[in-house]
Amino acid sequence: KYQGIIFDLDGVICHTDRYHYLAWKALADRLGICFNEKINNRLRGVSRMESLEIILSNSGQIYTDTEKDKLANEKNENYRRSLAQMTPENLSPEVKGTLDFLRKSGCRLAIGSSSKNAGFILERIGLNGYFDAVVDGNQISHAKPDPEVFRCAARRLGLAPENCLVVEDALVGIEAAVRAGCDAAGMGDARKSSLAKYHLAAFSELKEVCG
Ligand code: BG6
Ligand code: MG
Repeated sequence: KYQGIIFDLDGVICHTDRYHYLAWKALADRLGICFNEKINNRLRGVSRMESLEIILSNSGQIYTDTEKDKLANEKNENYRRSLAQMTPENLSPEVKGTLDFLRKSGCRLAIGSSSKNAGFILERIGLNGYFDAVVDGNQISHAKPDPEVFRCAARRLGLAPENCLVVEDALVGIEAAVRAGCDAAGMGDARKSSLAKYHLAAFSELKEVCG
């Protein structure tokens, strides 16, 4: 049915969304800023600096650009310490089995992520070189909900967006997918999205959608 499937990375392929949360939480606690899982859902899919802006908007304080750069670096260093602990064990057999199944059934597979750490994560979980295309935060100038990342991924797969399905856990990611002209499958926080064509309770349900 779909010739290509474009996966978000954080919170879809692996649980790095948890590490993002913990690293932002540590920063917010140190600064005395309120931060919780609900606010965290608004950070899904958006860029690092936009995430920081959302957190700082609850501080009632003004930060200079230099201060913001320092804070974003502090969070990223903390986050990367968690990433460095990851191994291929952090890729679940369900996700790996489903990816292999989709590939065998003839789909081309891509990553479409806002993260600048995507390459490092794929390496840590043993998926370096696995995907037919990887488009991440280093190659795009507009993060989700802008459609750039998914348009670019479809192009890199050599496919029209309408022949691609995007799998996302972020509401802004579903919006980006639809704006790019792709169909979208929502999981996790994005499962409730009315823009999503499929609502996945488990990653392996993609076998029924695409098999
Ligand atoms: C997205 C995450 O994948 O990447 C966001 O959902 C994150 O939460 C964004 O802010 C940017 O990530 P990074 O790794 O470049 O800081
Ligand atoms: Mg995500």
